[in-house]
Amino acid sequence: MDIQQTTPAPDNQRILVAVAWPYAKTSTHVGQIVGSFLPGDIFARYHRLAGHEVLMVSGSDAHGTPITVDADKEGVTPGELAARYHAQIVNVLERLGVAFDLYTITTTENHYRVTQDVFLRLLEHGYLFKDTMESPYCPTDQRFLPDRYILGTCPHCGFTDARGDQCDNCGRTLDAKELINPRCKICGSVTSTIEFRETEHFFLDLPKLSEPLRVWLERNRDRWRPTVVNFAMNWITEGLRPRAITRDLDWGVPVPVPGYESKRIYVWFDAVIGYLSASIEWAQRRGEPDAWKRWWIVGPDGQEPARSYYFIGKDNIPFHAIIWPAMLMGYGGLTLPYDVPANEFMQMGGMKASSSRGNVIWTSDMLDKYGADSLRYYLTTTMPETRDSDFTYDELVRRNNDELVATYGNAAHRTLTFAQRNFGAATPDPGELTPADEEMLATVERGFTAVAEAIEAVRMRDALNEAMIVARAANRYLDEQAPWKSVKSDKTAAARAIWTMLQTLNGLKTLFLPFTPFSSQKLHEMLGNSGDVSASGWTFQRIPVGQTLPPPTPLFVKFEPVEATAAGADK
Ligand code: MF3
Ligand code: ZN
Repeated sequence: MDIQQTTPAPDNQRILVAVAWPYAKTSTHVGQIVGSFLPGDIFARYHRLAGHEVLMVSGSDAHGTPITVDADKEGVTPGELAARYHAQIVNVLERLGVAFDLYTITTTENHYRVTQDVFLRLLEHGYLFKDTMESPYCPTDQRFLPDRYILGTCPHCGFTDARGDQCDNCGRTLDAKELINPRCKICGSVTSTIEFRETEHFFLDLPKLSEPLRVWLERNRDRWRPTVVNFAMNWITEGLRPRAITRDLDWGVPVPVPGYESKRIYVWFDAVIGYLSASIEWAQRRGEPDAWKRWWIVGPDGQEPARSYYFIGKDNIPFHAIIWPAMLMGYGGLTLPYDVPANEFMQMGGMKASSSRGNVIWTSDMLDKYGADSLRYYLTTTMPETRDSDFTYDELVRRNNDELVATYGNAAHRTLTFAQRNFGAATPDPGELTPADEEMLATVERGFTAVAEAIEAVRMRDALNEAMIVARAANRYLDEQAPWKSVKSDKTAAARAIWTMLQTLNGLKTLFLPFTPFSSQKLHEMLGNSGDVSASGWTFQRIPVGQTLPPPTPLFVKFEPVEATAAGADK
């Protein structure tokens, strides 16, 4: 059958923001925020402001063996465990201001139905086949084990705690069958050895799609981050192999084929389908069951209905740059990823974050301590877009104090308190503007173009930097104009400077809105505006002369420098 090869349209202004689905087995940590949620949210907020039609979806990934193991330990069902963490994640995302159109979970009836539909359609189109394989089985636990639940001695280096998929000592990739003295990680049993049992599964025929994938990736090469496209291309060059997409497990989406009652669809296969099922659920919930099609269904001319951006961490590249596109091609008629701007990792004080090292930083703790916008600001400045970055408390505090408080916040506070004291808490009449005032306003206008271009290219660090350049220019302008001096001798000059600053702040609130939305709303109100700050869209709107200015409060607060020891993960 024909593989769809659709035409990307760079001027298409309908945007799908697809954000990686975190496992519902912990609350969220800052690595997930900086890796996918925050860039997705910045991107979606900007595009909504620009008047584009945005659909932003994700949800909690509830399936997979680790969740069943954790649930067993706690004596609850996997569904209960996932629901509990899902609620925590939802709460954190809300506090952080991540504004999804829908954040759902993979345990819904809708998701099961859509997953089974995709499965059956791929089967019907000849992209799935059955085959048998030998899988490790623990007789004590009476269950098949995923490779990483098997421990044993590495045949290469002799390390005794190598996992069935790789050895953490020498770094080599392993097959569970290669391990010497394999044992089960769940029961730790050394007496009952692992057995390898024959079992039948469905496989996704990736080799069949290898050539269409290569052609499609080649066409995306110039637009995508080199790391992502190179990784995917290497995978194809090495030769794609069929992948088992069912498992011997009782937790997950049932396989819609008789004889497979004791098996489930593999967690990764159903998770990526979440982007589609969540879009369908969103449409149903708003009472327009067909609305999702505007983002997903390819037109008869091969025209993509939307540009879809997948915000993920680099560990998820294979699934988003190869496997999900392959599934979409095999299904037919659905839009392929337009871009997969995968991020690198953010380390914690120079080390990989891991719960065993105890240096995982929970987002909810950070929100308690620093609040949403300061956290969002710092994380954006350290977003690992081109290489791994490093989280440190010192840098968070420094950025907050030197940049948010001392530059952006200071420009706002000086202007607003001055207007309060000297101009009767209202926007003064500027009279005729000078070239310096005009230049300040032009700088704001240029900021709108620069921030927009950077966000559209998914360069969030640069985008935020462009907004900060405008804030710095505003502070400089205010220092040069020094209305606190001129107010005594030439009140008109002071009025002009304050008017220009109030307009500049009204622009800054929008420039910073994708990054620090809560303070933008606050600044919006302190400038005497009412309603939702986003209502004006991505435009530099002016406030009228005479607009009443409420008593200002500081936009940001300063944090005490962190003691290295108190910070824990820093040193
Ligand atoms: N749950 C997976 C992880 O955290 C990511 C899934 S992304 C999606 O690594 F493709 F499944 F959505
Ligand atoms: Zn066991």
